[in-house]
Amino acid sequence: MLPAVTRHATISGVGSSLPPRLVPNTWVESRVDTSDGWIRSRTGIEGRHFVDEGVVTSDLAVEASRIALDSAGISPEQIDMIVCASVTGDTPFPATAVWVQRKLGVTCPAFDVNAACAGFSYGLSTATAFVTAGMADTVLLIGAEVFSRILDFSDRQTCVLFGDGAGAAVIQATDRPGIIESTLGADGTAAEILIMPGGGSREPATVATVQAERHRIQMPNGREVFKRAVTEMAASCRSLLDKNGFTPDDVDVLIPHQANARIMRAVAERLHIPEERAVIDVAEVGNTSAASIPIALDRAYRAGRMHEGDLVLFTSFGAGLTWGATLMRWTLPGVSA
Ligand code: ACO
Repeated sequence: MLPAVTRHATISGVGSSLPPRLVPNTWVESRVDTSDGWIRSRTGIEGRHFVDEGVVTSDLAVEASRIALDSAGISPEQIDMIVCASVTGDTPFPATAVWVQRKLGVTCPAFDVNAACAGFSYGLSTATAFVTAGMADTVLLIGAEVFSRILDFSDRQTCVLFGDGAGAAVIQATDRPGIIESTLGADGTAAEILIMPGGGSREPATVATVQAERHRIQMPNGREVFKRAVTEMAASCRSLLDKNGFTPDDVDVLIPHQANARIMRAVAERLHIPEERAVIDVAEVGNTSAASIPIALDRAYRAGRMHEGDLVLFTSFGAGLTWGATLMRWTLPGVSA
């Protein structure tokens, strides 16, 4: 008979970093045919943070990581593994996790996860699996993006949506959950509806691909992305809750991927979770892709919204298409707002 599982994983520290430069919608108005009113009403976004020249993804990742390590009360030497979720890393290879490892001055294994805006869900599942399997006691999980470097400032459908930032979580072994369960999904048949087509083996970088803006984000059908995001996030959450014997009423805090306030409200509504229990923090941050959940989590935690024992539900959706959800009992003592 297999031994009973006594190892669990939990989040023991969180941190985030936003670049200081806040870029309001009025700045975007000066670049494309859009308006502050349109962006606010269709997305809930009022501004986003962009890095200054010379700042790279691992810089933000390291800042967020140091705060997360500090809140977990551990030093970088105690990290057994670094997992970084990003689609806008410092270099196509090596992984951004490796640049972070170097900057933190440690020697543990380090690798990236590419699941676009669902990167934190995929990374959290990976980190949990390593911890519960006994292959690591402490994993530093990061979501970090510098989207400003791959935005097409002639495409009003996409350039209004994204921002730069990083969030980090320390995932550690415990004898009680913590993380209860995660679910992941993907649909490669819809790969082209959110894509950066250039730069891989399919379209290696040439003068022509650069001139045709093939190294920037493309989203030919935003409305379809919206619909799939709502459907898949709500379905993942519902199946996780059902499987673990919970109802939406039991959820204390819902932290969806911070794509768009309308998407988040629609997910909460489908789940019958009151909007007040959802963290909707897109106004000043924008969509930071893989970084969005850990940034929203850190900001909610520091705002006093998370309490020990709360049932917390994370859910995400992004290019791939990819999606996921994680259910956990919050184990960190709350901070007073
Ligand atoms: N400013 C002004 N008008 C715009 C803009 C803009 N930035 N973008 C589109 N429009 C126009 C369109 O051209 C269209 O005009 P038309 O009626 O004359 O043809 C009109 O607004 C309506 O366009 P829709 O695409 O139907 O607008 P919608 O209400 O769906 O909002 C949006 C567009 C915000 C992109 C929405 O579809 C969306 O949020 N989709 C999800 C996209 C997303 O979040 N992607 C990020 C990655 S995946 C993820 O994170 C979940």
